[in-house]
Amino acid sequence: MNILILGSGGREHSLAWACAQNPKCDRLIVAPGNAGIEQVAECAALDICDGAAVVEFVAGRAVDFVIVGPEAPLAAGVSDRLREAGVLVFGPSQAAAELEASKAFTKALCDACGAPTAAYAHFTEEAPALDYVRETGGPLVVKADGLAAGKGVILCETTEEAEAAVTEMFGGAFGAAGAEVVIEEFMRGEEASFFVLCDGTDVLPIGTAQDHKRVGEGDTGLNTGGMGAYSPAPVLDGAVAQRALDEIIKPCVAEMARRGTPYEGVLYAGLMIADGAPRLVEYNVRFGDPECQVLMLRLGAQALDAMLACAEGRLGEAQITWAEDHALTVVMAAKGYPGGYMKGTRIGGLEGLPNDSFHACFHAGTAVEDGAVVAAGGRVLNLTARGASLQEARDQAYAMVDAVDWPEGFVRRDIGWRAL
Ligand code: AMP
Ligand code: GLY
Repeated sequence: MNILILGSGGREHSLAWACAQNPKCDRLIVAPGNAGIEQVAECAALDICDGAAVVEFVAGRAVDFVIVGPEAPLAAGVSDRLREAGVLVFGPSQAAAELEASKAFTKALCDACGAPTAAYAHFTEEAPALDYVRETGGPLVVKADGLAAGKGVILCETTEEAEAAVTEMFGGAFGAAGAEVVIEEFMRGEEASFFVLCDGTDVLPIGTAQDHKRVGEGDTGLNTGGMGAYSPAPVLDGAVAQRALDEIIKPCVAEMARRGTPYEGVLYAGLMIADGAPRLVEYNVRFGDPECQVLMLRLGAQALDAMLACAEGRLGEAQITWAEDHALTVVMAAKGYPGGYMKGTRIGGLEGLPNDSFHACFHAGTAVEDGAVVAAGGRVLNLTARGASLQEARDQAYAMVDAVDWPEGFVRRDIGWRAL
């Protein structure tokens, strides 16, 4: 079959890497792709948030199956346009993508089905929000309701900090995303991510992971899209995972179906776990980046079979074959990220990296200039390895980091510290 993957990051490189290994995959196209993806797939220029353009592209290349990587095309309704055109697609509808696009929507859904999550209140005006903060008192978490590229969340230890955050959001610091504000109880515990496929009815767990969102070692400094990740997450063991399925994920999926907006695609549940009890922090309607990279390294070719079963509504009969293995990925980013950084710097040493079912160098932000691979984004490479233990996976991933010759790049040296 001919497969189209939408996106251009390390997540999409790992999805392409897994699909390309499956004998069902004949032609593989990634739009727009990047310099690393070009080595496993054809790359094509395409406005992936323009549903009509994607439908036309799919018809022109006889594409049988579309996998949507990032949230923006989902929120723009691209999977709806594809389904209307009769194309098999892996990715939720625009209505179901509200689970990520609106925090207030998700909180109300949890209320409706009794899924445990932080207590919250939702405001469209500053004055009542400030009253609520003063009545409740810190610590509190203040969130812009809409999509704010992961930046619209302020963790406030004190009442004063929470008041300042509310004023900042209603003052327009996060643009339209902050026109509505959600204020939440500050949950304590350990965070982990649970990834499941849903076909509207059935749910298939495909792995757990933990990432490191802060730029600095010891989880300090500014928030980023993620500086590294590993799978499985020890804190999300079998019993906790079962509780998360029974108490959070399955009730929410059933409520989405009951409302006539069934969830179809990968559901990424961010959980806070304390004393063996999971509570929902947030949902994302796509794979995490870089969490996808460790999941794909562990799943390999069967990832395509699972995504197909999901898109075709056959998850009830689908199975994952698990190995007792661990995977870890280290993000190499351009110096300065998540602030300003240089583009166009040359990256050497890539040809010598191991490239097999235990090692992959996934490209996030790269391009080719004059025949050389250059940095084209903030997060640039994901050095990813798999082993019998987390320590082995980590040693292998850092050996790959050390073989890359890129003076303008940096990594965190402590990915996986919490689990080791
Ligand atoms: P979100 O964009 O909702 O995922 O929030 C980003 C990060 O903020 C999460 O990954 C958590 O680390 C943290 N966070 C969000 N909500 C809460 C909460 N209610 N309690 C504690 N931490 C939170
Ligand atoms: N790595 C976090 C995310 O993809 O949202």
